Amino acid sequence: MAETIDGRKLARKIFLNLHLEMQQYRQHSCVPGLALVHVGKHPESQIYLRQKQKIAEELGIRVQLEHLSEQTNVEKIVDVIDRLNRDAMIHGILVQSPLPNRSQESEIFNHVAAEKDVDGFSAVNLGKLCQGDASGFWPCTPSGVYHMIQSTGIPIEGKRVVVLGRSLIVGKPMGLILMQNHSNANATVTFCHSKTRDMVDIMRQADIVIAAIGSPAFVKASMVKPGACVIDVGITRVPDPSKRLGYRLQGDVDFEAVSQVADFITPVPGGVGPMTIAMLMQNTFKAYQQQIE
Ligand code: GUN
Repeated sequence: MAETIDGRKLARKIFLNLHLEMQQYRQHSCVPGLALVHVGKHPESQIYLRQKQKIAEELGIRVQLEHLSEQTNVEKIVDVIDRLNRDAMIHGILVQSPLPNRSQESEIFNHVAAEKDVDGFSAVNLGKLCQGDASGFWPCTPSGVYHMIQSTGIPIEGKRVVVLGRSLIVGKPMGLILMQNHSNANATVTFCHSKTRDMVDIMRQADIVIAAIGSPAFVKASMVKPGACVIDVGITRVPDPSKRLGYRLQGDVDFEAVSQVADFITPVPGGVGPMTIAMLMQNTFKAYQQQIE
């Protein structure tokens, strides 16, 4: 039976450390400031942003919400970002994905000043990750997953990793983090996606599987090598009449069945989600420290 990696518990530990570190800045003239830019009214995004806001404020981070209507054009969004880039009281800027027009995401992410890009989605920060330059910001979800894998004590070096999905937000940076030339990484990474052939054969060789495709319960026990570590990044609402709200949150992994085969597994909810928020808080604090120095 797999051991469950408790994302809430790990995140709480990080919040506690951040809280203690922030005490040292109590006398400083400004508190950390985080701007959350939300375009449109994607329902999940509203929930995620509320969670981010609540936790940030509990930690003493001042949150500024910038809500723009679904019809807002790129020029207007860029104007808002430019204003936030110039605002000395704002140290971190996050543009919530997905934007109503997904094809504009990279252009918009690239407008966030690199030193305030706490989501790590700009070309500068993704480029630094690719170059192995540790001075940038890593995207929060893959960074949280990396923490979770490290928390198991599994040596990552030399392991075979399969990343399901190749998104900018999770899949691609996840692979880059795990194959860094570093003794805590150095994994052999394979990316699988919708056009991959013989996916099950590839997956069954993986010591670590990271599922980030948004396909409910896609990963079955038969696809997983016995003893593997399985990380579930997916979170989808699926209809469930037995639940009060009429739906439940389902990850990309068939949790019950895969738990019988894997050594480590993450739950949904309570797995990767809280760690994404923890990494965002950590990045925001790092941005604040760098900018006030
Ligand atoms: N949408 C899903 N995850 C994330 C995230 O980590 N950051 C942003 N900005 N949008 C997201």
